[in-house]
Amino acid sequence: MSRIAYVNGQYVPHGSAQIHVEDRGYQFADSVYEVCLVVDGKFWDIDGHLARLRRSLSELDIEMPMPESALRIVMENVRKRNHLKSALIYMQVSRGVAPRNHLFAKGLVPSVVMTAKRFDLDQSDEKAAKGISIISQPDIRWGRTDIKTTGLLANAMAKNAAHEVGAAEALLVRDGFVTECSSSNAWIITKDGVLVTHPKDHKILGGITRATAFECAQELQLSVIERPFTLNEVFAAREVFLTSASSIVMPVVTVNGRQIGDGAPGPITIRLREAYKAKARAL
Ligand code: PDD
Repeated sequence: MSRIAYVNGQYVPHGSAQIHVEDRGYQFADSVYEVCLVVDGKFWDIDGHLARLRRSLSELDIEMPMPESALRIVMENVRKRNHLKSALIYMQVSRGVAPRNHLFAKGLVPSVVMTAKRFDLDQSDEKAAKGISIISQPDIRWGRTDIKTTGLLANAMAKNAAHEVGAAEALLVRDGFVTECSSSNAWIITKDGVLVTHPKDHKILGGITRATAFECAQELQLSVIERPFTLNEVFAAREVFLTSASSIVMPVVTVNGRQIGDGAPGPITIRLREAYKAKARAL
């Protein structure tokens, strides 16, 4: 089945989808993106993703390329045209095309690209049943990681460093504290059963899955605190897990080769993953 991409108003074969060489997304990473999960034809947390897209664009003074209702239609069309029931929809909006100049040209037409990739929830559940291993890496990213820009080189370097030692994700550490991971938010559950995750500020991406997982935790009457935590707290944690659209709620079983808890996915994390799935389906 041939893959279809959406590029600036047209649905085109993925293999020949193109963007201009002077697109500012290409030259300056002057663009933002979203990754949205759709399971069995239902978009999970779509309102949150679109709200964050609007915020990222507004922080960079880029116009919304089309009304939110139209974006939803294009996302759904991309899913359907790729014949996918469950998928990760990638959406990127750049400031547009202009002769290379650091200054933001006014009145550019934003470029919009969307692609779809197959997602298999059963496979994700199997992965979650085993848990993943991660390693720590220095967080060398810029100071506005709350904006979901495509400037992801530091994230990519950290993820590759993890991959090289057989780990699935990199836990980023800045000034002695864990911020988040290369493409997910990081959480610990302390020995007292308190869920801890970094506050939503300029140092982390405010994950949409993080926000919904937070609500799920409260509904499960778990205590949740937003505060920075150290790598030593990670090693001492009862459970560790990550959240993102593509990994949902993912248990972590080792960090830097050290076993977390008894080395198996923790019961609270498993409950939270199930609660998240139920909530996202019903939203
Ligand atoms: N990553 N932190 C970072 C640095 C991320 O790149 C992501 C998302 C998250 C989690 O955000 P959300 O829950 O809204 O997906 C946190 C996406 C999935 C990606 O880049 O593929």
